[in-house]
Amino acid sequence: MSMNETSKTATIRIQRFNPDVDKKPVMKEYTLAITPDTTLLDALEQIKATEDGSLTFRRSCRHAICGSCAMNVNGRNTLVCNQRVNAHQDKKGMVTIRPLPYLPIIKDMVVDRTSFWEQYQRVKPWLVPPQDVPEKEFRMTPEEVEALHNAETCIMCGACYSACTVTAVNKNYIGPHALLKASLRVLDPRDSIAGERLLEISGADGAYRCHTIFNCIDACPKKLNPTQAIETLRKLAQKREAFVEARKERQKTL
Ligand code: F3S
Ligand code: FES
Repeated sequence: MSMNETSKTATIRIQRFNPDVDKKPVMKEYTLAITPDTTLLDALEQIKATEDGSLTFRRSCRHAICGSCAMNVNGRNTLVCNQRVNAHQDKKGMVTIRPLPYLPIIKDMVVDRTSFWEQYQRVKPWLVPPQDVPEKEFRMTPEEVEALHNAETCIMCGACYSACTVTAVNKNYIGPHALLKASLRVLDPRDSIAGERLLEISGADGAYRCHTIFNCIDACPKKLNPTQAIETLRKLAQKREAFVEARKERQKTL
């Protein structure tokens, strides 16, 4: 048996930082009993309840749905509510947790996601339907529905955004999360402003700023592919006018 299977305790090494009182972040270790089912979020909750009530982190759903518990675990961004402690322990039984990188720290694991939301708003992530909506439902083909799959299950956790080294140095870059959502709207035949969207993502800080680093794919807890979405947007942007005309024709048949 490996150490992970037999281990009954874990040492959680956590980056602690309160910018109001601390000069710089420090790492603190907490040892606790675990079962095979103990999640990283359970461990943080336990530490907060029994060792240090000032430990600060975001969480809500506990089921990988709300996207609030994204953190950096052993150097990789992930959700902590659906990850078991024993899956991340090293040979000494230790797991290292830090806040999402490249974002200002508000306290401990809580980061300032203002730039993340600003870029998200920039792509108008809502559906803008045509003026003449059908009397009943919009009728989409199975292929059109399937094309949206890469983006529709995104939970906006910020793991991809924080993992991207382009966003790390350029907060004007739209970023993988927002470009993924932009692709969702552009590919949706019900959307009537695809041309406007393609213009926005074609700007200096849009899809062409991506250096295909792929960190976003590696970090996504939902196994989505922002890089592929970015590539799709680039291709559509190159034939924008034809795409807009085809969209108008398609909307006559919705
Ligand atoms: Fe960043 Fe992903 Fe592109 S990590 S550079 S958005 S491939
Ligand atoms: Fe909601 Fe983890 S607590 S995604």
